[in-house]
Amino acid sequence: EAGADPNTLQYTAVNPPDADLDYAVELAEENPGLTITGGARDTFDRLAERGYDGRVAIRINPGIGTGHHEKVATGKDAKFGIPYEQVPAVAEDVADRFDLVGIHAHAGSGVLHDDLDDHCRAIGKVADMGRRVGEVTPLSFVDFGGGFGVPYREDEEPLDMQVVGEKVREAVGDLDARIKLEPGRYVVADAELVLTEVNTIKEAPAATVVGVDASLATLIRPAMFGSYHPIRNVSAPGRDAEPVSVGGPCCTSADVFCTDRPIARPERGDLLAIGNAGAYGYELANQFHSQPRPAEVAIEGGESRVVRERETLADVTRTER
Ligand SMILES: Cc1ncc(COP(=O)(O)O)c(C=O)c1O
Repeated sequence: EAGADPNTLQYTAVNPPDADLDYAVELAEENPGLTITGGARDTFDRLAERGYDGRVAIRINPGIGTGHHEKVATGKDAKFGIPYEQVPAVAEDVADRFDLVGIHAHAGSGVLHDDLDDHCRAIGKVADMGRRVGEVTPLSFVDFGGGFGVPYREDEEPLDMQVVGEKVREAVGDLDARIKLEPGRYVVADAELVLTEVNTIKEAPAATVVGVDASLATLIRPAMFGSYHPIRNVSAPGRDAEPVSVGGPCCTSADVFCTDRPIARPERGDLLAIGNAGAYGYELANQFHSQPRPAEVAIEGGESRVVRERETLADVTRTER
């Protein structure tokens, strides 16, 4: 429905619910180019139980996790992928039952300079396994997942993609298969920001508290990962900066976007822009406290249009009985 040809897609799920597998298998029947990635023997058995024998990839666990936070370092988390040393045996079995076309891995997310060498070590291990599995059956691709990060703090340097390309190429070495990458954050992080209105200013002894209408239900990264997002007062950027703590309407101390951060002195009614919210932003938005999710507005060629309508309280309660 999004306009992509399913024959070009790779469906990679972790512990897929039955309904999702049913849908993927049904889609693959009409679109034999679709590839289904499995990261557990059970996933392949469940595909076989559905009569599926088409294109598959094996997600492997390289044993090296990378990225901005423990909770995204999937490459060393047993939840993700076939344990490294089990892969050759699983590959033989999978190649017997399906059309095994690729190896897949995703070591982590938000990789910047400090992590790049580890990330490339993970890529090197995946390429090694690609060569081993390639001896069982020729592979059409080895997929190294996503992971490349963007700067969130004002003093962080962006990745130099020329250097990244050279390091990845060196880590991969000779490989008789196509290299695939799955960048997410790198493409979309700086494409979106959250605009939020100041509704409360409170001078407390410990801090100046700025209350806004966005919350962790809108952008959960600061609460979930302690992530830094740049914040600007776009209504009055010229005012003197004062250290403030910005938080939303949810009843938890986790619902803060920053503490003691210098921002052009906010006043009630000002709009603050919380930047770099395009990756893991709206996708993780939720309805905590029965808060309707915000609208999304896209700007293209100087024109703006609503691409997702603001939810109402009626939307939130619609399915309740
Ligand atoms: C399998 C897989 N590929 C790619 C990505 C995108 O990762 P990133 O946004 O770090 O590039 C993810 C993110 O969770 C993922 O799980």
